[in-house]
Amino acid sequence: MRHDFAWRNQTDLLWGALSSGGAFLVVLDPHGKPNPMTIGWGQIGIVWSRPVFSVLVRQSRYTHECLRAASSFTVSVPAPGTLKDELALCGTKSGRSLDKFHAAGLTAAPAQHVETPIVGECLAHYECRVLARTQQAVAHFADADIVERFSYKEGSTHGVFFGEILASYTTRGQAD
Ligand SMILES: Cc1cc2nc3c(=O)[nH]c(=O)nc-3n(C[C@H](O)[C@H](O)[C@H](O)COP(=O)(O)O)c2cc1C
Repeated sequence: MRHDFAWRNQTDLLWGALSSGGAFLVVLDPHGKPNPMTIGWGQIGIVWSRPVFSVLVRQSRYTHECLRAASSFTVSVPAPGTLKDELALCGTKSGRSLDKFHAAGLTAAPAQHVETPIVGECLAHYECRVLARTQQAVAHFADADIVERFSYKEGSTHGVFFGEILASYTTRGQAD
């Protein structure tokens, strides 16, 4: 059962997940295969007068390669305290060498507005259309501690991908 919510609501659920265990960022790879990656960083707000979900993906990730070409992504948020093993797998293994949906036993369920699927076992979902792809440069950082702590060098910074939120909703999720 799907229940739409305003994109600015449910932030406690989202922030709770991002700060403990993570959420799933899903993107289609160049072969059309969906790849789920665990994220702990993300921002929701208004950019270009639109509701936007921005995700930060390091250049070394397969997801980064996929997002450079993809036109959409989804973010699926587990119910609190659930899917810990699945989050750990999707946050340590790469879709370059593994079908992570299959390996984690997760369901790639159809989204409503984008071709990228959602994670069927999760509670809340955001469907996003890619608006902009940017790459952080070492010279952009005003705080040298960040550069050191995250071992940033040219070629190993995070990309910031801005997605217009086309839909935000909860589903029961098999984990409930
Ligand atoms: C809890 C958690 C949060 C993470 N958050 C991020 C993130 O926000 N951005 C990122 O680039 N990598 C993040 N990672 C690391 C990626 O999930 C990990 O490198 C993953 O294996 C990359 O998969 P891929 O190569 O299929 O894209 C996180 C990992 C964990 C365990």
